[in-house]
Amino acid sequence: MAAIRSRMGDPGAKGLAMAVGAAIRDGTLAPGVSLPPIRDVAAALQISPSTVSAAWAALNRAGMLLTDGRRGTAVRDLRTPAVTRYRRAMDGQTGLPLDLSTGVPDSALLPHLGAALLRWDTAGTPSSYLEDPLVPELDAVLRRDWPYRPRTLLVVDGAQDALDLIVRTYLGLGDTVAVEHPAFTPLVDLLESVGVGIVPVELDSHGLMVAALQAALAGGVKAVFLQPRAQNPTGVTMTRHRARQIARLIGDAGVLAVEDDSQGLLANTRPLSVGAWIPDFTVHIRGFSKSHGPDLRLAALSAPEHVLDRLVSYRALGQGWSSRLLQRILTHLLTDDDARAQVDRARQVYAARRAALVAALGAHGVVVGGTDGINIWVPVQDQATALVLLAGEGIAVTPGRAFTLEPGYPAHIRVTAGLVPHSEAAVVGGAIARAATTTLWRNGVR
Ligand SMILES: Cc1ncc(COP(=O)(O)O)c(C=O)c1O
Repeated sequence: MAAIRSRMGDPGAKGLAMAVGAAIRDGTLAPGVSLPPIRDVAAALQISPSTVSAAWAALNRAGMLLTDGRRGTAVRDLRTPAVTRYRRAMDGQTGLPLDLSTGVPDSALLPHLGAALLRWDTAGTPSSYLEDPLVPELDAVLRRDWPYRPRTLLVVDGAQDALDLIVRTYLGLGDTVAVEHPAFTPLVDLLESVGVGIVPVELDSHGLMVAALQAALAGGVKAVFLQPRAQNPTGVTMTRHRARQIARLIGDAGVLAVEDDSQGLLANTRPLSVGAWIPDFTVHIRGFSKSHGPDLRLAALSAPEHVLDRLVSYRALGQGWSSRLLQRILTHLLTDDDARAQVDRARQVYAARRAALVAALGAHGVVVGGTDGINIWVPVQDQATALVLLAGEGIAVTPGRAFTLEPGYPAHIRVTAGLVPHSEAAVVGGAIARAATTTLWRNGVR
C-alpha cells in the first residue's frame, strides 16, 4: 500500500489507476500478487470504495488486473497477450466456402500495380532520416479533395495505425472517450488495451445522435471517435446537417473529434468532416486499404498541430515514416487515369452488389439500414441461430455482438456484401434471410 501511496499524485480514480499501473510496470507489484479487498484499499488510502472500484475497472480494461470472482483481484502477467474482443468474436467463423465475415475488399477490384511498379527501379534513399515523412507529390494530391483545409498532413501505415498513434499519444489510463455505437471492434480493443473508458453513443441513420453525444460530452469525455462515411458495421453516412450539429457540440466542449474515413475513395458521397467547422479540434483519417488494397498499408491524416507534434515525435522513436516508395506508388494510383478508372469502377460494382443483396433481403422482409460501404448490418431474430444456419450453408458472417457494447442491443450479423457477386445475390440473400428470421432456441433453452 505504501508503494501505491507514494506513486499517487491525484487522489481520484485516474490517479490511483496510474499509481497501481506504474507499480505493476516497474515490478513492485509482481504478476499473480493479489490485491486487498476494495474496502481495505479505500480505508488505507482514505478514499471512497467507488473510486477504488473505478480504478480497478480501468486497470482491468487495460489488461493489467484480473478479477476472478471468489479469488478476488490480482496482477495479470503482462507478458501473456490479452485475447481481444475482435479475435473472440471471430473464433470459429473461418474456413467456410463463402467467407463474408472478413470486411476486406475484393482483390479483383483493386487497381493494378503493374505500371506503378515499372516506374521506380530502386527504393531510393532519403536525404536523411530526418526528411519530411510525407512525399510532397502525395501531399499535393491529398489536399485536392481533403474535406477541409488542413495545415499539415501525414501518411501512416493504415487507418488502424493512425488510430493507434492517436490513442497512444493523446490518451491514457483512466481517460474516457465517446465512441459511436455499434463500434468498430479493433478500436474498442485498442482503447481498452490502454485503459481508456468508453462511453457508447448511439447512431441513427444520420450519424451520431445529438442528445446522446451531448450527454457523453457533459460526462467529461476527452475525445469523440466517429466514422463520417459508410460506418463499419452499420453502413451509415453522416449527413451534412448532423455533421454541423456534432461539430458545434464538440467545438463548444473543446474536445477532440477523431474521424476514421476508412471507406475513402470507395464512398458514394463527397468527403465530409466536422473539420470544416472545427479544424482545430479535428483529427481526420483517410484510409486507402479498402480502395487501393489493405496490403498497401497506407492512410493519410490531418490533426491539430499540438496533436500532430506529439504523434510525429513518438513515431520518430519507431519507424519514423511510412515507406516513401509506397507513398509514390499511391501517388501514381491517385493520379493515373487507368488506376482512377479502376477505383471508380470498383465503387460502382460495390454499390451494385450492396444494392442487390439488400434488395434480396428486402424481398424476404429483412430490412437493412445504412446506405454505403462494403458491409451490411443485418437484423436477426437470434444471433446464434443465424450463425449456425449460415455455417450449415457454408457461409461465414461476423456476429453482431463483436461490435456492440450494450447487452440489450438488438441481435445483428455483419455481412461483407462487397464480396457477393451480383449473380449470387438472390441465393445468398435468401440464405441470409432464412437465417435472420429463424429462432432455433425458444424460451431461453439452449
Ligand atoms: C472503420 C475502420 N477503421 C480502420 C480500419 C483498418 O484500416 P487499415 O487497413 O487502413 O488499417 C478498417 C478496416 O476494415 C475499418 O473498417
